Amino acid sequence: MIIRELTDGQALAISQESHADVAAQFAAHWGNGRIAPLNPYNSMLFGVVYHDSGHREMEAALAINPETGLPYNFRGAPPEVRNREADGLNSLWIRQRDPYAALVVSMHHTGLRKRRYDTLRMRRDGKVDPAPGDGETLGADNALTDLKDWQREAAETLGADDPATKRLLWHNYKMLQVFDLLSLHFCCDGYAGDELRPAVLEGVPVAADSDDTVDIHIQPLGGSRVRFDPYPFDTSPLEVGVIARKMAAQHAAAPEQAQAAYYKGGRCPIVWQIVS
Ligand SMILES: [Fe+2]
Repeated sequence: MIIRELTDGQALAISQESHADVAAQFAAHWGNGRIAPLNPYNSMLFGVVYHDSGHREMEAALAINPETGLPYNFRGAPPEVRNREADGLNSLWIRQRDPYAALVVSMHHTGLRKRRYDTLRMRRDGKVDPAPGDGETLGADNALTDLKDWQREAAETLGADDPATKRLLWHNYKMLQVFDLLSLHFCCDGYAGDELRPAVLEGVPVAADSDDTVDIHIQPLGGSRVRFDPYPFDTSPLEVGVIARKMAAQHAAAPEQAQAAYYKGGRCPIVWQIVS
């Protein structure tokens, strides 16, 4: 669950699968004459859509943070609330339907604990997310070494020994970071108060068979319009939307009361217009 507190004392709650749907809207329209489209398109979209469905366990429990009177945010929840085991089970669920998508998603979750393997990062107000390490730069070799059990088997079955296949797999790992970071920017991290702030998504790969990257400048234009430069999508404007729940913090309330406030929360459609 993403919890974004508003300046009027209320908060927006966005489920992790809704965050994934925002990522999938960016993924579906990725690519144009300058930026390569996704390949394999359907596997990547399937993976993006379900990449965070392991959070369903945490969200179904709807644990309330006693400090905020709101459901726990996805960051900072205690381990017994966050339930990371569910991420592994979700990758296995994806694997039954699409092993390629499952491999990319499982690499993504391992990479979240390793600075996204020093690939993509979002720069805002002079700070980068994830913050750089002070040791070696992580990369494809670290990611492949981290594969365990079924992941290693899947990589072999999918032909990751072949240099071109391995290169495409690594490219697609990075593409999932692109869509995840873009979605997090619009669902929570990109806001200062109630307004979007400028950002730069650094290190965006241009194509699987190239080492070239671009830094995409994300510039709010007022309201919900945002300019991307260079523009990576196949249509402009691109409308991207999500349904959030608006609720007031339930300080000093019983958890059941806070849960009821979440269930009753008014649904708020949020639509951003992304333009070139
Ligand atoms: Fe995500």
